[in-house]
Amino acid sequence: MDHHPYPPPSADAPHEPLERYSPAGTPESESRAFYERMDQRRTVRMFSDRPVSRETIAWCIRAAGTAPSGANKQPWRFVAVSDQALKKTIREGAEEEERAFYEERASQRWLDDLKPFATTPDKQFLEIAPWLVAVFALKQTDDGGQVYYTQESVGIATGLFLAACHHAGLVTVTHTPSPMAFLRDILSRPKHEKPFLLIPVGYPVEGAVVPAIKRKPLDEISAWL
Ligand SMILES: Cc1cc2nc3c(=O)[nH]c(=O)nc-3n(C[C@H](O)[C@H](O)[C@H](O)COP(=O)(O)O)c2cc1C
Repeated sequence: MDHHPYPPPSADAPHEPLERYSPAGTPESESRAFYERMDQRRTVRMFSDRPVSRETIAWCIRAAGTAPSGANKQPWRFVAVSDQALKKTIREGAEEEERAFYEERASQRWLDDLKPFATTPDKQFLEIAPWLVAVFALKQTDDGGQVYYTQESVGIATGLFLAACHHAGLVTVTHTPSPMAFLRDILSRPKHEKPFLLIPVGYPVEGAVVPAIKRKPLDEISAWL
């Protein structure tokens, strides 16, 4: 449809021409290539201490910030930590919560579901990874305004962040020490920021291994009507 049948936006809601992204390849080849790259993303829990530049993390955070969000409120904050002492404090806080999780809080079913990952309360990677990116969800905007669909918005932004890290050749763990309130205290974040996820970012250690798990095939994750 070349001629557009849409009514013009009202004058009090300024609009601009769309700068359309148009890849060189066909939609089929581009979407397949993207899938093939993303299919190589794995959660890695064995980090090397090889440094990653601040610039790299900044680009990945900018990529996250391109996410759509409810009423464009962009209710996220990415707090990037490379300070060794702070990483150690985060590790101690996370391990305390993790010990309580494994020893008291988790149901037997949950522990059974975690068996394939061989995870334990030990979170060495929190000190070894060069960056810990703590993602916070904003309960209100910085100037006290309303936010909408916060979980969805921050989830999408985080997904883009993980994709950007992977695209840059880095690995991540989507870590959820539960509860995560300790992160707000350690990182001195304001009350309206709620910890969402903690994401170590870096390179895998030489010889790193990952759980041998499978992704569901297309027919299990989709329906076509
Ligand atoms: C919301 C969320 C929370 C997670 N929490 C943890 C965690 O606390 N510790 C951990 O080692 N992995 C955690 N993971 C990673 C998952 O175990 C991992 O994504 C899953 O096993 C699939 O593996 P893959 O990422 O390599 O495809 C989490 C993932 C998500 C999306």
